[in-house]
Amino acid sequence: MTEPRIIQNPVELEALAGGCFVPTMGALHEGHLSLIREAARHQGPVITSIFVNPTQFAPNEDFDAYPRSLDRDVRLAGEAGTDVVYLPAESSLYPEGRAASRTTAAGLPIPNVAKHPQLEDAGRPHFFGGVCLVVARLLEQVRPSATVFGEKDWQQLQVIRAMIADDAKLDDIEVIPGPIVRESDGLAMSSRNAYIPPADRLRARGLSLALDAAEKATTPDEAETLMRATLEAHQLTVEYAVIRDPESLMPVTDLNRPTRAIITAGLDFEGGSVRLLDNRAMPLVR
Ligand code: PAJ
Repeated sequence: MTEPRIIQNPVELEALAGGCFVPTMGALHEGHLSLIREAARHQGPVITSIFVNPTQFAPNEDFDAYPRSLDRDVRLAGEAGTDVVYLPAESSLYPEGRAASRTTAAGLPIPNVAKHPQLEDAGRPHFFGGVCLVVARLLEQVRPSATVFGEKDWQQLQVIRAMIADDAKLDDIEVIPGPIVRESDGLAMSSRNAYIPPADRLRARGLSLALDAAEKATTPDEAETLMRATLEAHQLTVEYAVIRDPESLMPVTDLNRPTRAIITAGLDFEGGSVRLLDNRAMPLVR
């Protein structure tokens, strides 16, 4: 197995146009690697980017503390089938500088699906502007024929799909979803799981157990009540635990259409806290 090539200069990406692209912020785990393996089944070279994107972090968030493990990431990405690891310089993605790029991200027109006041936007209003800005710029540099995103970040996947479909410069790019990869106890893998102290680890199971509980419900209200009760029983702070249309993320009115349970909850521990996300297809009609 050959080491992946490392590219920092976006000009060198031109020869790789038409490949399959997996954007990440590094600290790679099995969830990321499953996306790379999926990309390797696609035609053309696999390009994995590693870039901890400042514009999607608010000033009080964990940008500086975000786990970074570059040598290990490059090795794992290569083993999973990456041909090229793209490590963009911040100045190539954000030539306007960090402060101005935050302003650009905040003013970016983003798809409606990003703007639900009860979902990610409630706790992280800067988030999807930053994600859309960096992903659009990465896609313009990499020019892939397909890109893989994880279902773990369900709203992000819908936002990226909508952004690509709405942009005439990007709308020929196929978006391939990758299923959620979990720890053996059901916790969805995340780079931020490393923050959870061992003593608090059991509480993190509350999200997948809340989804299990919701499967017993027959109405959205009942499912939401069951999810909240399970999250609270694990001393998790519920940001949202809702049943939504999987694409528009609107509240569900027609139970004959597919529905999705989506959860974000905070796990507070001594000296810190971590936001945990999970979701699952949740057909309520049987
Ligand atoms: P990051 O959190 O590094 O995730 C990169 C990709 O891996 C995303 O598509 C995410 O949904 C997927 N992923 C993470 N955990 C997963 C799991 N347990 N199972 C399946 N897929 C999983 O998401 C981002 O980075 C950034 O917002 C980014 C899109 C790179 C823009 O900066």
